[in-house]
Order: sequence, then C-alpha cells, then structure tokens
Amino acid sequence: MESRHPILLLKDLTTGYGKIQILRDVHLTVSRAEIVCIIGPNGAGKSTVLKAVYGLLHPWSGSIYFKGEDLSFLPVTKHVTRGMVLVHQDNNVFPNLTIHENLEIGGYLIPNTARLKSRLEKVFEQFPSLYNKRKHPARSLSGGERQLLAIGMALMTEPDLILLDEPSMGLAPQMMAQVFSWVKRIHKDGKAILMVEQNAKQALEIAHRGYVLDLGKNRFEGEAQFLLDDPKVKKLYLGGRDTYENLS
Ligand SMILES: Nc1ncnc2c1ncn2[C@@H]1O[C@H](COP(=O)(O)OP(=O)(O)OP(=O)(O)O)[C@@H](O)[C@H]1O
Ligand SMILES: [Mg+2]
Repeated sequence: MESRHPILLLKDLTTGYGKIQILRDVHLTVSRAEIVCIIGPNGAGKSTVLKAVYGLLHPWSGSIYFKGEDLSFLPVTKHVTRGMVLVHQDNNVFPNLTIHENLEIGGYLIPNTARLKSRLEKVFEQFPSLYNKRKHPARSLSGGERQLLAIGMALMTEPDLILLDEPSMGLAPQMMAQVFSWVKRIHKDGKAILMVEQNAKQALEIAHRGYVLDLGKNRFEGEAQFLLDDPKVKKLYLGGRDTYENLS
C-alpha cells in the first residue's frame, strides 16, 4: 500500500530564518523509486528545502509528510530513525578522523555492534576505494572522495531517503561525473534520492524528475528530460545564473 504513495510529500511549505521568509508554498514529491533533483540559482532556497525536510527548520505553514507521517514538528533527532538522512553541502566529514572512524560516526545510532559491523562491510563492499583508504584521515581525501565518504556516512544510517545537498560542488568535471555515477549506484541499491544541484544539466541527466526553484518558489517541474528540453528552463537555469523575473 505505502509504496504507491510518495515517500516524501511537501505541501505548500512556507518557512524561513527568524522572521525572514525564504520559501513560499513550495510543493514537491519523491517516490520510492526516484532520483528527484532541485535546481535553481544561488540563494533560491534549495538548501532551505532540504533543511526543512530534515527538521532543521520548522514550517511556518504547510506540511511535510514522510512515509505518510506528518513530520512538520518532529524533533530533528528523530528523522534519522524514521529513515531519512541529509548530506550537507559542505563540512560533511570530520577531516582529522580516519575514514573508518567517520563511517562509525555515521552509524552511531545503530544500537547493535554486529549490525554496525555488517553495515560497515556493506559500505566498504559498495565503495572499495573507501576500504582501501580506511585508515587514512579524511583530510587526505580528494574533494570527490570526501563526498563519497559523506555519502557513505549517510548510508550507515540505513536510510530509505537520502537528501543530498550539492554533492558535485567544487569538483572538476571528471570527478563530478564520478559522483553522479555513485548517486546512481546508491539509487539502484533501493534508495530514494532528493538531490539539490547547481550543475543542473548533469544532475537532470541522472534524475527521473526535477523541480526548478527560484526566489523561494516553484517555477518549473516535470520529467527530467522535459526540463532538459524546455527552452525557458534551458535559457534560464541550465547555463546562466539568471532569475525568473528576467524572463520575458
Ligand atoms: N541561517 C540562515 N539565516 C538567515 N538567512 C539564511 C540562512 N541560510 C540561508 N539564508 C538565506 O536564505 C536564502 C536561501 O538560501 P539557501 O541556502 O536555501 O539557498 P540555495 O538555493 O541553497 O543557494 P546556493 O545555491 O547558494 O547553495 C538566501 O537568501 C540565504 O542568504
Ligand atoms: Mg545551497
């Protein structure tokens, strides 16, 4: 029954920081089998959506449903145990700890040592490059490998939905492609993914559906290929850094 419903549903979400409103009536869904991508210019409110979904900000109005449960006022610590995890845009690993230690921290909520060990084995199996460097400090990793470690830490929580905030940020094109291929691999392994990206074209190429957010509002949405082909989306969001207001 549940699988027919979206795993994540945002209805008219309005929120902000202090008294400053950032999001206005944002709607969005993610189903269990999807990679969904949010694109849009700097400051559009993309990270704010992820923070609200993860309980770091409470809605001023509107609702956030996860697996059918209204999470709007759930304390942030409970989101992980419900099966979702957020990989932040930056500072998402502990540079002075080893890869192994970082992953153990990722799994700190797993109460059972044997389960923690088997999770760790699974992540190492999926991403052998992390295993090979498990005793190295995270600061010795390249930018792309750090993103992989951050994703690995998220996988340690056994999530059903992973919220990824700009996993390809600051990476050279080749490394960016590698990160997106890792995202695809995780999805194949049964995870739903909501990903924010400024590298919009590349992100839409691996996503099923996408939403364009600008100035805190939904602007465009649809199948990823539809957005890739849409002339307005192309002109405004798949190359430059223009805003919706300049569309004429
Ligand atoms: N902690 C905060 N306090 C106050 N304002 C904030 C805070 N974090 C973000 N903002 C503001 O909220 C707006 C949306 O920010 P957000 O980080 O969600 O944008 P974004 O779409 O993720 O942008 P980017 O592509 O640069 O990451 C921006 O105007 C930003 O300055
Ligand atoms: Mg952001």
